[in-house]
Amino acid sequence: METTLAILKPDTVAAGNAGKVLAHLESAGFTIRGLRVMHLTRAQAEAFYAVHRERPFFASLVQFMTEGPVVPVALERDNAVAHLREVMGATDVAKAAEGTVRKLYGTSIERNAIHGSDSPDNAAKELAFFFGHSDLIAAR
Ligand code: CMP
Repeated sequence: METTLAILKPDTVAAGNAGKVLAHLESAGFTIRGLRVMHLTRAQAEAFYAVHRERPFFASLVQFMTEGPVVPVALERDNAVAHLREVMGATDVAKAAEGTVRKLYGTSIERNAIHGSDSPDNAAKELAFFFGHSDLIAAR
């Protein structure tokens, strides 16, 4: 079993699609091990996406991620990191496959409904950003 981090982004929460996306993820075999609702500060969004600091879309991304509440979720299943990326679809909604979360609920390359960790190492770091150790083992 592996655990990865998803964030239901402000577009998903504002549109009232958080429940549908969580149901989609559960149907895809993920077990929810941690769940929060929070409104990221600018400093938190900048820190979370620090790897993109030099990219031209960084300021816009931070603005988007702080415009309303997000739902960080710890998700467990076998091969969770790779499987979540498949279930999410391509970053750019225009390139996302039919039936993926981004195709169903995203509207652009930026407002793409959901974030998912891109490697097991980053999943560990990103889970620690939002959840304490006891939050995640408490559900076992
Ligand atoms: P995410 O998987 O959360 O990782 C970084 C985010 O930056 C990405 O989803 C998009 O929301 C956003 N992003 C990536 N590429 C672009 C781009 N070319 N233009 C605007 N936003 C982008």
